[in-house]
Amino acid sequence: MSDATVIIAGAGQAGAQAAVSLRQEGFEGHIVLLGDEPGLPYQRPPLSKAYLMGKVEEPGLLLRAEKIYADQRVQLMPGERIESIDRAARTVRLASGQVLGYAHLVLALGAINRPLPAAGAGLDGVGYLRTLAEARDLRARLPNTKRAVVIGAGFIGLEFAAAARAQGIDVTVVEAAPRPMSRVLSEPMSRFLTARHEAQGVRILLNRTVSGLRGEQGRLSGVELDDGSVLEADLAVVGIGVLPNTALAQAAGLAVDNGIVVDENLLTADPAISAIGDCAAFPCAYSSQGLMRLESVQNAVDQARCVAARLAGKPAAFNAVPWFWSEQYDVRLQMAGITSRHDQAIVRGTPEENAWSVFCFRDGAFLGAESVNKTADHMAVRKLLAAGVALTPEQAADPSYDLKLAVAAIGK
Ligand code: NAI
Repeated sequence: MSDATVIIAGAGQAGAQAAVSLRQEGFEGHIVLLGDEPGLPYQRPPLSKAYLMGKVEEPGLLLRAEKIYADQRVQLMPGERIESIDRAARTVRLASGQVLGYAHLVLALGAINRPLPAAGAGLDGVGYLRTLAEARDLRARLPNTKRAVVIGAGFIGLEFAAAARAQGIDVTVVEAAPRPMSRVLSEPMSRFLTARHEAQGVRILLNRTVSGLRGEQGRLSGVELDDGSVLEADLAVVGIGVLPNTALAQAAGLAVDNGIVVDENLLTADPAISAIGDCAAFPCAYSSQGLMRLESVQNAVDQARCVAARLAGKPAAFNAVPWFWSEQYDVRLQMAGITSRHDQAIVRGTPEENAWSVFCFRDGAFLGAESVNKTADHMAVRKLLAAGVALTPEQAADPSYDLKLAVAAIGK
């Protein structure tokens, strides 16, 4: 691979990291980083937080300065969409008609917003929040927004709600499930977040879906719910999850199962194609759920590093501990491990003091923890999981049990 070409398809967090990591690992060949969004690769996490609140401007979102890509001899091709992959010829065809050859292709194609299955979703005043262009549009609308309806109480919905509320906007959140962020959070943590939002004046409607969006002269005027009620709104933000970008891989004959299927080395069945980040379904060492797809910065960055090392001649199975974070008001939420299938949630610390954790177990086996303003717990859990330390429910429930000592004992 020393003088070969690696094409990285997708210039999000995973793709951009793969490009620079390849050089850091000593890869000397040609690196092409292409993606269909315009401009330089940027960070998405601030889009629903600091950027929306006007605390950071666009230049502050860039993942790396333009000069870094030049210095690292990465050929950046923004605004380019791959239309097809020819696996036999090892080429990709771009929408512009250009055909590029590769020795290895890294698919870092990310995900797209799940579209709202309701009439009127095309009205002016209905937005999504995943790309910079979408965030730019929402940010520009906020100063003229009186009433916002947020559809989906997941990461995007709740972070948007917090940012909009901070700007004095009347916010109602509509969630289909019985509790917010149920995809990733335990019940005590969901309850806590609900209370935090309600204390800030956000209304959260649970077990409700949207049956249609109403408009006047092409502009949104209200959101109709499945019980027939209508919420007046001049802005609706849809955050009902994402769909992995798998169409290219599927058309090329690669296996797809809620993501592009890869092995523990993040390689597809084609030895010349890897997949990383939001689009990849991989066997996660911290979950017994079979193939998993993780939508997080950590996963994007660590998978990029893993593939870069392999392409530079240092193969190793992917086994990074998954972790996630969110910020809403004065709540810094950090999650470590894959806890979604827990059957026991043990609270450590005091929610009333806004600093506490939930430790999650299944059949007595430790899965991970969710922490609010308790970075020490979060970091300890990451280390315990990485070392395979089997924390017990009794230890988690015992306030005198010292997590720091447990970490210090690793390897002794
Ligand atoms: P999500 O999966 O976190 O939440 C979607 C929510 O919408 C769920 O609570 C679901 O029950 C609800 N829902 C689904 N269909 C619905 C319907 N028809 N009506 C009402 N509610 C419905 O996805 P979200 O929030 O859209 O986030 C998108 C992506 O961005 C995810 O990949 C997420 O991980 C990522 N993200 C991560 C952040 C972080 O790590 N802090 C912050 C923001 C986004």
